[in-house]
Amino acid sequence: MRIEPAAKVGGHIAVPGDKSISHRALLLGAIGDGETHVGGFGRSADTESTMAALRALEVVVHEDEVDTVRVEGVGLRGLRAPAEPIDCGNSGTTLRLLAGILVGQEGRFQLTGDESLRRRPVDRVAEPLAQMGARVETAAGRPPLAVEGGGLRGIRYELPVASAQVKSCVLHAGLYAQGRTIVVEPLPTRDHTEIMLAAAGVRVARRPGRVSLGPAERLSLGAVDVPGDFSAAAPFVVAATLLPGSELTIHDVGLNPRRTGLLSVLERMGARITLFHRRRSAGEPVGDLEVRSSELVATTVRAEEVPLLVDELPLFALAAACARGESRVEGARELRVKETDRIETVTTSLRALGIRISAGDDGFGVRGVPTRPRGGGMRSDGDHRIAMLGAVAGLVSREGVDLQGAEAVAVSFPGFFELLDSVTQR
Ligand code: S3P
Repeated sequence: MRIEPAAKVGGHIAVPGDKSISHRALLLGAIGDGETHVGGFGRSADTESTMAALRALEVVVHEDEVDTVRVEGVGLRGLRAPAEPIDCGNSGTTLRLLAGILVGQEGRFQLTGDESLRRRPVDRVAEPLAQMGARVETAAGRPPLAVEGGGLRGIRYELPVASAQVKSCVLHAGLYAQGRTIVVEPLPTRDHTEIMLAAAGVRVARRPGRVSLGPAERLSLGAVDVPGDFSAAAPFVVAATLLPGSELTIHDVGLNPRRTGLLSVLERMGARITLFHRRRSAGEPVGDLEVRSSELVATTVRAEEVPLLVDELPLFALAAACARGESRVEGARELRVKETDRIETVTTSLRALGIRISAGDDGFGVRGVPTRPRGGGMRSDGDHRIAMLGAVAGLVSREGVDLQGAEAVAVSFPGFFELLDSVTQR
């Protein structure tokens, strides 16, 4: 796909429902009592993987509209083991969050995925599940992951990596364990699981750096109104910031502070972003974002901040490339185990566009110049966040970008290019 340079972006848009919250609404709805109505469902290849996995477990999911689904809950222990392995596609969230639920069911379950997912670590969930008493097998720490529960006990688990997926998996298993399950996090990660479990009637105790729960008797969600996905809004925020004369409003975006690290980082670089119409939906903060273009100065993103913008670090790299001075990202080794090794894919693809960026062990350094990058050719390597990075890079470049593998965006955001086109002025 060819992305031509843009003069500016402008107008009013809304983005699809939050992917993390949509996965959780399906999963917790499935083990709930009664029907869960999910409005503003973030339909994407990944959330469809969760839907397909639940159907393989004999859960009935109705797709009333593109963004409205209903899940018929089978109760905490009502999932049925299929004969075949469950295919989680490209979705690490599906595989890791579901594993914590499956150890509470009768039988043995196998979870696998596409080529990218089969290269990603699952020992990070296998380890705590085994400590809780589940029988767990992996292929040398990678999928397929086989789990069989029974007689689980609560543990105190200190996360060795700052991962909301691991935290969520352990909390899910804790619903089925005797005694309390305590998760200690070294750094705050997204807390959608804690928020949704509480909304479903589970008593979740939260203190800074620590979350715990006891065994649950039942879950009931009722209705979930999913806010817009901040990570889907992020490419638009960056495009509007970088293209002079832009003025863009993004409505109904999830503004959970564990997700909006990119806003804090851009603001200290000099971005002009206003939040208004702030409210709550499904226990989550929501609001509208108004973004105006501005000149940026360099900054450093340190380890403590990384989980708050982990999926937006590729876009940060582009913003940093157009900011005055040297920017850095530190303590982001987790990027190496995402859909691709994003330290490699971000630095290789941006370098190909004339940007001075170098990879480090656990991050990258960017020498920014407040001008448009040259542009050129790059490929997504099947990674949706790299494909979105390429699209925004094309808009802000001098010569445009030839983007290979643009179709990967469907993993998180079908319709992305159409929406981008609708706000672009050339
Ligand atoms: C997610 C958590 C993050 C994030 C992923 C979605 C979630 O992964 O990168 O896109 O929904 O819990 P980690 O928690 O493993 O960092």
